[in-house]
Amino acid sequence: MDTYYIDGQFVDDDKAFISANDIIVLRGFGVFDFLVTYHRRPFHLEEHVGRLQNSAARIGLHIRHTTTEICQIVRETVSRNPHQGESAIRIVYTGGISSDGLTPEGRGILMVMVAQRPDLPPRLYTEGAKVITVDAGRFLPAAKSTCYLSAVHATQAAKNQGAVEALYVDRENRILEGATTNFFCFIDDRLITPRQDVLSGVTRSVIMELAKGFFDLEEKEIRMCEVPRMREVFITASNKEVMPVVMINDLPIADGRVGWRVRKIMEAFSDYADSYGQGKSRLPLPRLLIEGEAGKSGATGS
Ligand SMILES: Cc1ncc(COP(=O)(O)O)c(C=O)c1O
Repeated sequence: MDTYYIDGQFVDDDKAFISANDIIVLRGFGVFDFLVTYHRRPFHLEEHVGRLQNSAARIGLHIRHTTTEICQIVRETVSRNPHQGESAIRIVYTGGISSDGLTPEGRGILMVMVAQRPDLPPRLYTEGAKVITVDAGRFLPAAKSTCYLSAVHATQAAKNQGAVEALYVDRENRILEGATTNFFCFIDDRLITPRQDVLSGVTRSVIMELAKGFFDLEEKEIRMCEVPRMREVFITASNKEVMPVVMINDLPIADGRVGWRVRKIMEAFSDYADSYGQGKSRLPLPRLLIEGEAGKSGATGS
């Protein structure tokens, strides 16, 4: 049995309920964030909570908790679930109950749900993964809102085609991001990741910092017509870390095998996450500042 935090109370997971009248249920109006632990320490917790605050500000949802309060609640929830080994943490802030069922009235609730962190099949990392592309995108892409219809739809399409992820491609043929991942590729020896119309992934930020030591890095638009020029490709996310991609739709990337550049980045990430978990190192990542929040965030090291 897992213990969740729901609106001020710690409860067993099978007793975790919210109102059917909350506009997160009625309208999909809410925000969430997801992170994992290493050595039981939540990975870059302040950045994830900062992004939650930023997501809320962007969709017009008022969060009544400070960043510090949310971080403390997350740490407490993790510590109440010691049986999990490593945890996967979901932080959700709902739109709350609204008199007309549509207009947010600042009555949202905070939920923190932790589960055992699932392992992904090792062959995806040794042999590489297939991804597909979909002609879709997200409304307000800088916000991680609970309105993930396009992601659920795209992920189903990916699974039906034996792929792990679907990449959003827009009308200008730009590759933006995956349904729940960020996208990176090497063209020549330069590492490239899209800058605009994507979620600012925490793993993405970590990779950009780590990669600086080894490769030239550029944030810029990437188009589908550039796929044949890509030497190596990978996707990043809290639950996937750095996952090599060897096929996009039916097109193999270079020789269709995991290359040395991605391996180097996978190794650097794994070493860093391990060391972060043990409290030995911490990269200075860019914070997403929210108006009015900067002064009160007072984040302590997670
Ligand atoms: C749309 C989207 N892009 C990227 C990511 C990766 O973000 P992070 O590295 O912070 O997990 C996610 C995470 O779920 C996502 O939903």
